[in-house]
Amino acid sequence: MESSQNETAAMPRIGDPAPSFKAVTTQGEIDFPRQYSGSWVILFSHPADFTPVCTSEFMTFAKREEEFAKANCKLVGLSVDGLYSHIAWLRTIKEKIEYKGMKNIEVKFPLIEDITMEVAKKYGMIQPGESSTKAVRAVFFIDPKGIIRAIIYYPLSLGRNFDELYRVLIALQTADAFSVATPADWHPGDEVIVPPAGSCGVAKERMETKQQDITCYDWFFCTKKLDKEKVLNTILKK
Ligand code: BEZ
Repeated sequence: MESSQNETAAMPRIGDPAPSFKAVTTQGEIDFPRQYSGSWVILFSHPADFTPVCTSEFMTFAKREEEFAKANCKLVGLSVDGLYSHIAWLRTIKEKIEYKGMKNIEVKFPLIEDITMEVAKKYGMIQPGESSTKAVRAVFFIDPKGIIRAIIYYPLSLGRNFDELYRVLIALQTADAFSVATPADWHPGDEVIVPPAGSCGVAKERMETKQQDITCYDWFFCTKKLDKEKVLNTILKK
């Protein structure tokens, strides 16, 4: 097999258990995803330390870490750089970089060193069409049972939208907590989608009778209100 095929062969998919690994990080060794059992975790990769887009992303994630923590979500970064590069880069960010009102930013979440690319390859973060020596900007949303629930990939040149990452996290948790789906551009407080009724009888009943607060436009498209407070009080830690 060609090496480029090897590098892309094992891409995990939504619904798969997160591939396990042990690694050295800026916060000590981690045993992934075992030690994150019970928490959501966002595992994300960046192409390289000491690069500007990655710096803007790390500052933004570090600034918003508390917000993600309130949604029971921990952050873990990765690049194919070594530990001393990571440490020097994060120190430089804290001591020297002031960007969009963010300064003195301390990155407290772990950043994995992956010089061998072992972890990056396990997670399909090396995408040779983009780069065979750097990880793309991958984002894996992993649930408290260690199952991959969403994956987003961005190319090297494109910084991530952290409002969208937070929205995805809250939407996944809302779907789980209330057994609903979330429509296009959903934010807490917007209507949610009620899954299609399992049998024709139930679907007909829904269409004909005004069931609770459900609105049906056709048998396959029913929505209901879900208060923002109800969503946020269920999901966010006080
Ligand atoms: C950056 O983070 O700025 C970057 C990294 C790799 C390639 C292009 C941009």
